[in-house]
Amino acid sequence: MKLRVTDREGHDHEIDAIEGWRVMEIIRDHAMQTPALAIKAECGAALACGTCHVYVDADWVDRLVPPTAEETERMEEDVFALEDNSRLSCQILMTEELDGLHVTLAPGSEP
Ligand code: FES
Repeated sequence: MKLRVTDREGHDHEIDAIEGWRVMEIIRDHAMQTPALAIKAECGAALACGTCHVYVDADWVDRLVPPTAEETERMEEDVFALEDNSRLSCQILMTEELDGLHVTLAPGSEP
């Protein structure tokens, strides 16, 4: 299972993903070998920071479980450069259906 991540410099990375893991956790895990993928994710998925902000590729937006009211509220309060395809990557769980998901690290997610 793969996850495609575009870093903040515009470079694409195809990384191995694990079913059931949060997209944020997968990106953070790979950042140890690939510093360009470093993501702040300050609250560790507690939905309290917004620093795991990503943009979801247009082809994938409708294939994700929609954001909860809590995720939407957090993005509205804590995320700048908010776009229609913004999501908090700690709230996206990898499933077989998301094999190949493409996200881009958003401004404000840098450590
Ligand atoms: S890591 Fe803090 S909201 Fe996702």
